[in-house]
Amino acid sequence: MLPHCSLLLFLSVASLLSCSSALPFEQKGFWDFAMDTMDSVGMMAMMRDEEEGSAVEEIPTTDVSMCPFGCHCRLRIVQCSDLGLTEVPKNIPSDTRFLDLQNNHITELRENDFKGLSNLYGLSLRNNLISKVHPKTFVPLRSMQKLYFSKNLLTTIPKNLPASLVELRIHENRIKKVEAGAFAGLRSMNCIEMGANPIQNSGFEPGAFKGLKLNFLRISEAKLTGVPKDLPESLHELHLDHNQIQAIELEDLSRYRNLYRLGLGFNHIRNIENGSLSYLPMLRELHLDNNRLTRVPTGLPDMKYLQVVYLHTNNISQVGVDDFCPRGFGMKRTFYNGISLFANPVNYWEVQPATFRCVSDRLAIQFGNYKK
Ligand SMILES: *[C@@H]1O[C@H](CO)[C@@H](O)[C@H](O)[C@H]1NC(C)=O
Ligand SMILES: *[C@@H]1O[C@H](CO)[C@@H](O)[C@H](O)[C@H]1NC(C)=O
Repeated sequence: MLPHCSLLLFLSVASLLSCSSALPFEQKGFWDFAMDTMDSVGMMAMMRDEEEGSAVEEIPTTDVSMCPFGCHCRLRIVQCSDLGLTEVPKNIPSDTRFLDLQNNHITELRENDFKGLSNLYGLSLRNNLISKVHPKTFVPLRSMQKLYFSKNLLTTIPKNLPASLVELRIHENRIKKVEAGAFAGLRSMNCIEMGANPIQNSGFEPGAFKGLKLNFLRISEAKLTGVPKDLPESLHELHLDHNQIQAIELEDLSRYRNLYRLGLGFNHIRNIENGSLSYLPMLRELHLDNNRLTRVPTGLPDMKYLQVVYLHTNNISQVGVDDFCPRGFGMKRTFYNGISLFANPVNYWEVQPATFRCVSDRLAIQFGNYKK
C-alpha cells in the first residue's frame, strides 16, 4: 500500500505548508498551488506514477459504483472538478479525505450535500457560483480542516463552520459584512485569506472574530480605509496591502502585540503617528512600500527584532542617521537584513553610512537612484 502512504505524506506536507510559509506577499497555499497547476489529469497522472514501481499486487480501488458519475475516486481523493456540475454530486464515498469540486457551476450548498462525510479533511469549492449556503451544510464535516471557497458569490461568511477548521480561503467573493460571532465555536485557526472582497471597515461587526485564535489573516484588495480594530489579538501575520488606508493612528496597532509580520504596502498612508509601532515589540517584517510617506516612520530603532523594512516607492526626501538604528550597542537583538528605500526622492549620497550601522550586510540595503 505504498501509494496510500505517499498520499498521507502528501496530505501531511500540505498541512505543514501553511499560508504563511512562502515568500512574503505572494503566498499560496499548497492546495491552491496544486489546484492551479495541476488539472485532474495531472493529478491522476501523478497518482499513477506513484502506483508504478510501488506494488506487484493489484491495488484495491474504490468501488466504481461508489464514485459519483464523471468524478475520479482514488486514494480517498474525490476529484470532480471541471465537470459543469450545478450541484454537489451524490454518492460521495464516506471515507473521502479530500473532495475537489472546483471549476464547476454550483450555485448553492444545501443542508444534506455533505451528509456522512465525517472523515473529510479538505474541501475545494473554488471557482463556482455559490451565493447561498444552508446554515447546516457544514455540520457533518466534523474533521474538516481546510475549506477553499475562493471565487464564488458569497456575501457573508458561511454559518456554523466546523470547530476543526484550520484554514479558510474565501477571497474573491462579494463579502461586505462579517457578522458578530461569524467564527463562534472555532477553537484555533491557522489562516484566513479573505482578500479581494468589497469589505469596508464598517463591514466588520463588533465581535466578528470574538473567541477566535488565529495566526494569519489577509484582507488585501478590499476597501479598508484604516486598520480594523477588532481582529484577533493572537495574530502573528496581518496583511492589509492594496487597500485605501490613509494613516496609522496611535491606537490602531495596540491590539496586535503578537505580530511578526505586518503588510501595509500599496495603500495611501501619509503618516504613521509617533508611537504607533511601539505596540509591536515582536515585529520582524514591516511592509510600507508604495504609500505616500514623507519620512521614515518613527520608532524603528526601538524595534529589537525588526529585520525587514520595505519603504520603497514613497515620498521620503530625507533619511536621518538615527532613523533605523538605536544609538546604543546591544539594544537591537537582530540586525536588519532588508531595507528598501528606492523610488523615493532622497539623494542617497546625502545619507550618512552610519545610518545603517545595524544592518547585517551592505547588500541588504536597496537604495538606487531616484528617477523623476
Ligand atoms: C516621538 O515621541 C517621542 C517620545 O514619545 C519623542 O521623544 C520624539 O521626539 C517624538 N518624535 C517626533 C518626530 O515627534
Ligand atoms: C511629496 O512631498 C512633498 C512635500 O515634501 C509634497 O509637496 C508633494 O506633493 C508630495 N508628493 C506626493 C506625490 O504626494
